[in-house]
Amino acid sequence: MRLEFKLNGRDLTVEAEPAKSLLDFLRDDMKLTGTKKGCEIGECGACTVLINKKAVNSCMVMVGQIEGCEVLTIEGISGEVLIPLQGKLLNGGAVQCGFCTPGMIMAILGLLYENPAPDAEEIRRAIDGNLCRCTGYNQIIKSVEELRLSEVVLK
Ligand code: FES
Ligand code: FES
Repeated sequence: MRLEFKLNGRDLTVEAEPAKSLLDFLRDDMKLTGTKKGCEIGECGACTVLINKKAVNSCMVMVGQIEGCEVLTIEGISGEVLIPLQGKLLNGGAVQCGFCTPGMIMAILGLLYENPAPDAEEIRRAIDGNLCRCTGYNQIIKSVEELRLSEVVLK
């Protein structure tokens, strides 16, 4: 099918298989491999992207469903947002192997769009679908709590 949507701020028109997962479309067709492939059954959160500023598991969305939508992947986050967020996570010991980190960042960004000053419980709930086998979650939650004190410009 012919598909029109916005990807990382750019208007695109592409030919796509409507039943393909958004995850496979991003990785295979768009070569955006920052979105990670974990379980492919909606349970690990490694594939999280934003659709219309909401965090979703891209393995659970079919490409045919994104017509007219705005899709944001880890590659499309502006430096003004990504650099302070990465810095907090790195300095806070919230990144180890890094496999979960892109999905975690997208889930956190989805939360910050909804609520720029989340408390620890709100952060915990926002990332409870994002599995991390390395860090435990406290470092991630603490890093995001600290982040809201600094200037992050969301557009
Ligand atoms: S790969 Fe999508 S939730 Fe695990
Ligand atoms: S840092 Fe390794 S899975 Fe989260």
